[in-house]
Amino acid sequence: MVKRFPEGFLWGTAISAFQCEMGRGPPSDKTDWWAWVHDPQNISRKTVSGDTPQDGPGFWELYAQDFQLAREGLGNNSIRIAVDWGRLFPDPVDDVEVEAKWDEEGYPYGVEVTSGALEELERRVDQDSAERYEEIFREAAKQGLTLMLTLYHWPLPLWIHDPIECRDNLEDAHAKGWLDPNTAVEFAKFSAYMAHRYQDLVDLYCTLNEPRVVSEHGYLSPRGEFPPGLNDPHLFLEAMKNLALAHGLSYEQVKRWDHESLSPLGPSTVGLVAVLQVFEPYEAGNPLDRRAAQAVEYAFNEWGLNAVFRGDYDMDFNQTVEPWEQKPLTVKGCDYLGVNYYSRWKIRHTGGEGHPLSAFQIMPCEGDCSDYGWEIYPQGIRAVTRWAYQRYRRPIYITENGIADASGETRDRYLLSHLEELHKAITQDHVPVRGYFYWTLMDNFEWSDGYQPQFGLYKVEKETRKRLPTKTVATYNRIATTNGLCEKPS
Ligand code: BGC
Repeated sequence: MVKRFPEGFLWGTAISAFQCEMGRGPPSDKTDWWAWVHDPQNISRKTVSGDTPQDGPGFWELYAQDFQLAREGLGNNSIRIAVDWGRLFPDPVDDVEVEAKWDEEGYPYGVEVTSGALEELERRVDQDSAERYEEIFREAAKQGLTLMLTLYHWPLPLWIHDPIECRDNLEDAHAKGWLDPNTAVEFAKFSAYMAHRYQDLVDLYCTLNEPRVVSEHGYLSPRGEFPPGLNDPHLFLEAMKNLALAHGLSYEQVKRWDHESLSPLGPSTVGLVAVLQVFEPYEAGNPLDRRAAQAVEYAFNEWGLNAVFRGDYDMDFNQTVEPWEQKPLTVKGCDYLGVNYYSRWKIRHTGGEGHPLSAFQIMPCEGDCSDYGWEIYPQGIRAVTRWAYQRYRRPIYITENGIADASGETRDRYLLSHLEELHKAITQDHVPVRGYFYWTLMDNFEWSDGYQPQFGLYKVEKETRKRLPTKTVATYNRIATTNGLCEKPS
């Protein structure tokens, strides 16, 4: 029996610019992430792997053949890709004036970008990169792939964020990235530019990818693996706040500047991508573990969405939103919610009376684990999808779901079991799920962990950059082309 997915369902894979583009063509070397993974201190302390993105799969030149793999190899009708802000604007454009409205605490709640400002940005953009992105978007359309475009999938231009300076001396750093509310204004400008310039080629946008992961791994991490490698709950919340503001300002600009439709979706459908996880206490009978798991769940799954959808910024983290923590003017909209789902985490309380976000540990996976040490827990995709819909009432796209599995032996099971559960969310919980994007099309640069984790449906031969199919290519093709599941996971 075939378990069908809704008509018009988008089947795709997700990739990101920094992880895939390099390896062919000019590198994008003026971003915080570039500086971060090349920094000798980070490499010697093993906060990063020492692998570098310039050994990547080379999507910058090989995009047409990659789209073909998506379309023909996988039978997909869609693809989620990202642009690299620092490739387009490697040099500062903060002198291009826009009118921002600031509240009494110094946070922006509105930005006016004029046509004149857009013309100036057009003069200052890196022309080769802007043209290449245009070719990439055109090629996706030509090959029949509905494009979902992520505007921010982690690297910031170095003129906005100098991660080494921030790591070594935050107070005196001149480019503070997401700790600076101005970054949200710069992102609004960038979003206006993108929507205006590519309006005839893009209808479906994600503003930000996983603000929580950027904030968590950058500002709440004992290992310090993401730029700028800090570990302080207050900085984590500050970054979360500025990212939520950035979503709203970006949403408003895309709506304002994209007037052309390429598809029945209309000119612009704009959402946010959140990674949602199942969090459980390590020992269910231990009240401290239970409290820690609840605090992490609140911080990681809920806090950022409450900010975007309700204007609630619980900065003192007491799980109550006092009137002074409400910023209703920052709520601009979110047409859908992108859910990235990977795993379940067990949380243990580590003692101490300080900030709840300084007293927990994510326990190593026990049992059914991926190469990356993430638990395989398919029921979670249904649980988080249902939770997100019931709470925020927006259509859902699964914008990422996948497994690091170098042997290729577990991926079929992972894919099928997660889709079984997603199907239940649609048919039994009545969640309007509009699409599914597997992470990822081909093995790529897994941030601070380099090339070790292999999430790809295609492997990439090191010397030639040739793409080699794993056996899940055929499985996914069958699902996408029949728009359904015909077999039980083994
Ligand atoms: C990110 C991807 C990443 C994947 C696997 C997600 O958090 O959006 O960029 O490669 O997880 O770790």
